Amino acid sequence: MSRGRFISFEGGEGAGKSTQVALLAEALTSRGIGCLSTREPGGSRGAEEIRQLLVQGDVGRWDSMCEALLHFAARRDHVTTVIEPALQDGTWVICDRYTDSTFAYQGHGQGLDITFIKNLHRTATNDIWPDLTIILDVPVAEGFDRISGRATSDDRYERMDGEFHTRLRAGFLEIAAQDPQRCAVVDSRQTTEDVHREIVELVEKRLGL
Ligand code: TMP
Repeated sequence: MSRGRFISFEGGEGAGKSTQVALLAEALTSRGIGCLSTREPGGSRGAEEIRQLLVQGDVGRWDSMCEALLHFAARRDHVTTVIEPALQDGTWVICDRYTDSTFAYQGHGQGLDITFIKNLHRTATNDIWPDLTIILDVPVAEGFDRISGRATSDDRYERMDGEFHTRLRAGFLEIAAQDPQRCAVVDSRQTTEDVHREIVELVEKRLGL
């Protein structure tokens, strides 16, 4: 049984990640590939409980280090109980956000030291990285326009200011520039179908689908 492939999706608010995760999962399934769609923070029982602490409540309830530690507590549970067992089973894992979000949000957005985050990642996840990371890029104002239509969201991060979100976008683009072997940036201002087509081409090219 060969190990499954690990694909993560990243991007700021309103980049369209969840739609694209679902479309890619459908495309893989239709080609006979067993795949699991999951998300962070969350994706396992314990991590979903930690997610509530992270996304609810006052914007300033945690400092950046507390946030990173909570994200990595959730991530460790998710990796050890869900992601790694699935990969070992030959299942492909598609994850809506992973450690690049900690680099972007807590690092670039909130000023936490990037080396500290790298070290946490190494210890907490046994240094597991996706085989491919798709960064959906959208201008901040356009992303916010898209999410303003959502009825139910009370996400702390969506209430953080515009400058924070501008730093995030720049952070994701920097991550992609520093690790072009693993990362690919896709312009999410295209139609949903065109974004999906580009993603399938990337998966074919990079992972030999
Ligand atoms: P979601 O809205 O994509 O479900 O993610 C919840 C929020 O958590 C989102 O606004 C980004 C934030 N987040 C971080 O700040 N650091 C992280 O490491 C992860 C995975 C998410």
